[in-house]
Amino acid sequence: DQIKLPAVPKRSLPYFGNLYEMLPDLQASWRRLFEEHGSVVKINLIGNEIIGTNDPAVAELFVKESEYFTKKINGGLSEIKAFGGQGLFTTDSDEMDWRLAHKLLMPAFSPRAIKAYQLEMSLIGQQTIRLLEQFTPDEPVEILNWTTNLTFETIGKVGFGYDFHLLDDRYAENHPFIEAMGYCMKQAFKRMLQPKVLKRLPFESNRRFDRSIKLMHSTVDDVIQQRKNGPEAKDMNKDVLGFMLNARDENDLGLTDENIRDQVITFLIAGHETTSNTLAWTLYELSRHPEIEEKVLQEIVNLEITHDGLPTSKQSSNMKYTHQVLKETLRMYSPLRALGKHCKKDIIVPGGYQIKAGSEVIVHLGSMHYNEAIYPNPDEYDPSRWTPEEEQKRSRFAWLPFSTGPRSCIGMALALQEAKTILGMLLHRFRFVYDGPPITHDPKSPTTKPLNLFMKILPREHLP
Ligand code: HEM
Repeated sequence: DQIKLPAVPKRSLPYFGNLYEMLPDLQASWRRLFEEHGSVVKINLIGNEIIGTNDPAVAELFVKESEYFTKKINGGLSEIKAFGGQGLFTTDSDEMDWRLAHKLLMPAFSPRAIKAYQLEMSLIGQQTIRLLEQFTPDEPVEILNWTTNLTFETIGKVGFGYDFHLLDDRYAENHPFIEAMGYCMKQAFKRMLQPKVLKRLPFESNRRFDRSIKLMHSTVDDVIQQRKNGPEAKDMNKDVLGFMLNARDENDLGLTDENIRDQVITFLIAGHETTSNTLAWTLYELSRHPEIEEKVLQEIVNLEITHDGLPTSKQSSNMKYTHQVLKETLRMYSPLRALGKHCKKDIIVPGGYQIKAGSEVIVHLGSMHYNEAIYPNPDEYDPSRWTPEEEQKRSRFAWLPFSTGPRSCIGMALALQEAKTILGMLLHRFRFVYDGPPITHDPKSPTTKPLNLFMKILPREHLP
């Protein structure tokens, strides 16, 4: 192959670069750019150059930590760092804080360790069912609200033994912490595209951003102090907080209270919206594909999962077809649409593209997961893509909703166990019906959220 430079779209303005070409929907714009220019494209957003790919071979190089590429916090992530602090998600790979927390926390999220959280997940499933029973069958319900509340409660409980009381009844008020985090997430996405000077002016939006961060910090600081002063201070197995307070590495190094605070906030940021979107999109797609839903139901019946029982981790891990369903949801609606990395050393990547040291690169999941060369009819929801035989035909770097390598998602197994448990229970009790026009994702949200997904919730009949 000849050496070439990443393709550059022609429509560029002074100062703004390709900003107007990319807005309002970055997702659709990236897809179009790869179709027009090939698999490695460079854009300019207000002076920041970003090289994107939709090719799994290039993605593999970008995403794995190596002498060429690493995760460095900038762009959207540096906005999230304002509240995620030195948590795992928003800390550079070469920082001691990331290395220590990664080493100490990996065991707490291993498939074996998270079995301990199954009971909490099933109890939250039961609580959600009691809550959804409060709606009448003809009442359209904004589903994402409830999947968000239940995933928040799950992380609250298994993360640090906290109850946000979001599932107490259908009129439960939003917790101030959640208001604060929701505001910060939205602002972070806006600030990413704002010139620096705007972020420093005394606008109410900037003040509220700062106030919200303080509120999140003080809420979690209080929980940590209460635990440290309480009878369960030394209980390592109570939840992830117990683990963090007591875990030490081989040199007897542990996490500081401040770092634990940042990790707790990070788990909430990284763990609730991602899983909640996945659940909501899955319910939506199942309602549009009765034949797929039928197969999920068959699996639920075969495994004897019921809404009023408490599914065990064995039952949830045996939901093999539902696992395929979730993989397909995560392909089409990957909650994070881009994985950003920093190039440390000049390299020529597959396709012959030269990438210079200092470049910022992304794997655009929202495009790679729709790459027609890999996924025929990419706009079609089809879980049969994920049978073991079909998977073997593809590069394993063609599906990266959780990324891969040392900087991949620490909560992957937890999220999948939670999603299967909840889906099994909810689908056993209810039929979720959507009969409107196709739903799009919210272009204003940093994660892939279904916009205005109102569904009717009918009791399910005739299941054992
Ligand atoms: C990192 C996706 C659920 C905690 C990541 C990354 C992705 C991801 C793509 C890498 C980000 C990057 O490269 O910048 C998802 C998806 C989820 C999910 C799709 C659900 C469907 C969770 C849950 C937790 C969690 C439930 C709860 C603890 C984290 C953390 C990191 C992370 C702490 C940073 C890890 C590190 O860099 O050391 N996630 N996530 N995630 N995720 Fe998740």
